[in-house]
Amino acid sequence: MSAAAGGAPAAAGRGSAKGGAGAGSAAAMRVLHVAAEVFPLVKTGGLADVVAALPPAQGDQGADVRLLLPGYPAVLDGVGPLRPVVDVGSCFGALRVRLLLGRMPSSGLPVYVVEAPYLYRRAGGPYQRVEGDEWPDNLQRFALLGWVGAHLAAGDADAQWSADIVHAHDWHAALACAHLADHPATPARAVFTVHNLAYQGLFPMHDWPTLQLATRHMSPAGLEYHGQLNFMKAGLRYADLVTTVSPSYAGEIATPEFGCGLDGVIRGRGPAVVGILNGIDTVVWDPATDQALAARYDSRRLEGKRECRRALQAELGLDVDEGALLVSVVSRVTPQKGLDLVLAALPVLLTEGVQFAIQGSGDSALEAALRMAQQTQPGRVQVRIGYDEARAHRMIAGADVIGVPSRFEPCGLTQMYGLRYGTLPVVRRVGGLRDTVTDLTPRTLADDSGTGFVFDAATPQAWTEAVRRAQALKHVPEDWHRAMRIAMAREHGWQQPARAYLAHYRAVADAPPAA
Ligand code: ADP
Ligand code: GLC
Repeated sequence: MSAAAGGAPAAAGRGSAKGGAGAGSAAAMRVLHVAAEVFPLVKTGGLADVVAALPPAQGDQGADVRLLLPGYPAVLDGVGPLRPVVDVGSCFGALRVRLLLGRMPSSGLPVYVVEAPYLYRRAGGPYQRVEGDEWPDNLQRFALLGWVGAHLAAGDADAQWSADIVHAHDWHAALACAHLADHPATPARAVFTVHNLAYQGLFPMHDWPTLQLATRHMSPAGLEYHGQLNFMKAGLRYADLVTTVSPSYAGEIATPEFGCGLDGVIRGRGPAVVGILNGIDTVVWDPATDQALAARYDSRRLEGKRECRRALQAELGLDVDEGALLVSVVSRVTPQKGLDLVLAALPVLLTEGVQFAIQGSGDSALEAALRMAQQTQPGRVQVRIGYDEARAHRMIAGADVIGVPSRFEPCGLTQMYGLRYGTLPVVRRVGGLRDTVTDLTPRTLADDSGTGFVFDAATPQAWTEAVRRAQALKHVPEDWHRAMRIAMAREHGWQQPARAYLAHYRAVADAPPAA
């Protein structure tokens, strides 16, 4: 890459030796986050929320943080004005690739954008067509992202900025770690975060030459995985540190049950795998200021929540029933999320006075089953297939309970949104759900530690029992309100996780290079 005119605004100079911002250095730690989505521009799930909130939280703590994103139309339109950093020319099948620099609309965070119209400028999702099938050139699209990430971090792309740490998120950005490991001259180090091990970025082995990686990586010790190329493995093998989004998930992915075939690779990294619990954006998700809601509230003034509940029932066409336990589910509709358990338990729970408000999209067979469920009792079950951010806020605020019955859950954000909105979570004891929700029992109610309802087995019966426990507690308003207030007081902002990541970056930057 050759740097062109028009680089970044004044940034700390590039460290001459290893890790210019290591321990004892006063210079700000320079961090490049590389990711495929960011809220509010492009979002398919919690990854976008994390990528929007973690970097500015690190900036608030004194780090010099930037973002690198693919140039989808929504990104090019959303982070302007853009100025050119470098002309890359033609690569990865794209005739014209440029690196541009803009800013995030809300935080003002500097954002590098890979402009490659042939690969990124198209209608549809970041990974899939509107019809739901994967883009056939995802290998090229995300190989380019990782390659640019490594070179930008190494100082090859922007004459005025380089990074101490490249922080790659999920398989889409993972190749940055492999390219950085191969880079002959950079002191930059790689941190790789696994948001979801179930999506690995698998491609045919014959596409190997496209990646432009050294041949030594084309083996089971590198990116090869049972005769295929596995992008996720590039992050797991070559990052200096691997993180996951909750401590429990960090332990789980080292086991065959949750390791998605990569548990051996995870175990092989030993202590280089750590779990750091996600935070939530407490500005975007704040019932006291949330403009999407019919009324605003906080833990001392809960009347607004009652109004939100009535408004939600009316908006969706549910019976406006004060006594019902109203359960919301806002979720991708995939086997991960356990919506089949909700469907299987529906007939029984409906006879017991429970109401359901469900919003999601994904698996078409499950979507169809959800639509059918609504037809049986529209006053008790309402389903919205699709993606609607504002309605998600109303569904979380207006419900008594937020259901997250996931089979596995690396972290999960909706249960934390529920806590903040006084909407008690009913969750499976797995991954980040286990780490964020404390089961309500007589003891945890008495000592003010209980915040929700936790169940173990991934069965409709276990889910049903947990919903029944919620319904029983709701019939004791004094206890219910006490639990709500405890849940709302839980601290889940990004300050602490941002600090934890920065401490790990420093340790990585200060460690001697791997042999
Ligand atoms: P995951 O990333 O596995 O989907 P998370 O709980 O981490 O799960 O994050 C999901 C995010 O996506 C949350 O911000 C949630 O509110 C949002 N979300 C999921 N489905 C929808 C939908 N259909 N409409 C609006 N928001 C949704
Ligand atoms: C993934 C996980 C989810 C996590 C999110 C953000 O999509 O499925 O559990 O909260 O990433 O880290």
